[in-house]
Amino acid sequence: MNIEANSNKNKLSLVWDQSFSVGAPILDSQHKSLFEIMNRLQGASESDAEKDLLLNIINDLYDYSTTHFRDEEALLKKKQSPLLVEQQTQHAIFLDYVIELEAKVRAGSTTVNEAILTFLRVWWEEHILKIDMQYQKLFINN
Ligand SMILES: [Fe+2]
Repeated sequence: MNIEANSNKNKLSLVWDQSFSVGAPILDSQHKSLFEIMNRLQGASESDAEKDLLLNIINDLYDYSTTHFRDEEALLKKKQSPLLVEQQTQHAIFLDYVIELEAKVRAGSTTVNEAILTFLRVWWEEHILKIDMQYQKLFINN
């Protein structure tokens, strides 16, 4: 895992490396794209971007996460994996959070602050490293 903790500017960025590889190239590539969206959100919030730009990025995060979760769940279903249920639960929690975030930012009751960026970053790190990794063996050598 390579979190650029030393650079103040990038202290909340996500950098994909092999330790995040879940064994399925399509899912790895989607995780990379998700990290890019997360880093765009971080960059925009730190440069005090307009609310519309933040909302656009939050919507991108929602849309791309939805696509990614759907593909990931379809692959697990194809493998008839019992891990699917936990994945669906986690994915729903994440999407609910993003919907709520979008509504709050839109209403002006919050901005994308450090606590929110940290929550999102930790969610992805932990989800990939602890939950997604459980299915890695289904795709490696298969
Ligand atoms: Fe997942």
